[in-house]
Amino acid sequence: MKNTAIIGAGAVGTAMGYLLSSAGYTVTGIASRSLESAVKARDFIGQGEASTDLAGTASSAGIVLITTSDDAVRQVCEGIAHRDGFRPGSLVVHTSGALSVDALVSAKDKGASTVSMHPLQSLPSVQEAIKNIPGSYFCLESDDESALDTAREMVRVFQGKVLNIQLGGKPLYHAGAAVVSNFLVATIGFGLQLHESAGIDRQDSLNALLPLIQGTLKNIEKIGIPAALTGPIARGDAQTVEDHLASISRENPDLLGLYCELGRYTVKLALEKGSLKENDARKILELLSRYGSH
Ligand SMILES: NC(=O)c1ccc[n+]([C@@H]2O[C@H](COP(=O)([O-])OP(=O)(O)OC[C@H]3O[C@@H](n4cnc5c(N)ncnc54)[C@H](OP(=O)(O)O)[C@@H]3O)[C@@H](O)[C@H]2O)c1
Repeated sequence: MKNTAIIGAGAVGTAMGYLLSSAGYTVTGIASRSLESAVKARDFIGQGEASTDLAGTASSAGIVLITTSDDAVRQVCEGIAHRDGFRPGSLVVHTSGALSVDALVSAKDKGASTVSMHPLQSLPSVQEAIKNIPGSYFCLESDDESALDTAREMVRVFQGKVLNIQLGGKPLYHAGAAVVSNFLVATIGFGLQLHESAGIDRQDSLNALLPLIQGTLKNIEKIGIPAALTGPIARGDAQTVEDHLASISRENPDLLGLYCELGRYTVKLALEKGSLKENDARKILELLSRYGSH
């Protein structure tokens, strides 16, 4: 079960092929839409046959890693299944965060086991992926225990850690990851815009905020959420919240709704933390709805 075929010769496919072959797996073939990408990946991995024949390449191995772009996974899998490219008893894996294991149903119908194995990490290039994969969490989704066992073994080879998820949970899992990663960037952009309105140079502001962001992350790592929450809402400081709202409604009225929405969620966390009293929470929520409806 250590013969592996890679379908989709991009950053993730090439890096996983390289890491698996370094750990003693045999990469029998790398197939992609373009021969150029397949050859480049094969040269990097140092073994396997480069091809554009997806079904032929898949049939050469017991493990088939589909690492195409998300929107091609289902269709690529169906194409290989249609051409009888999956061996019965083989394991077919995709690495998409957004797609469920169900995207591989055509392989399952041909007697293969299926699992989705998403590295919860940002992998912008092959080199970065090789550096970042070890230590990352892998979200595994399957209803097949033996498929999960083989996937866990691959995660061990990647020096990763397993995050288990219930079948059907992928969209919310992916939404959670996108909220944390993408909305963090959006939230920092929001703060920078308020500082710019206060006349602070954007780069100076980012330089000054980075230690605050890093300190907050350290607190989250150490004591978790909601314990790491600080600031006027956590303290129940309604006057400060009102000053924020009044200034934003004057200088950045388009951002008022966003402040109020995040503020309401922050009230919920502060109540969970126990630092905000019910009475102060009511006052702050009343301010947030009054300004939020402007
Ligand atoms: N990069 C990340 O940060 C990251 C993190 C976690 C998970 N993932 C997941 O890993 C998967 C691969 O991502 P990636 O970043 O490696 O993408 P990528 O660098 O864009 O590579 C995707 C590869 O798929 C090939 N491909 C696309 N459509 C195809 C088709 N119809 N038939 C055959 N090959 C096809 C492309 O081939 P050609 O070059 O030959 O055209 C390309 O080389 C995705 O499901 C992604 O969601 C990515």
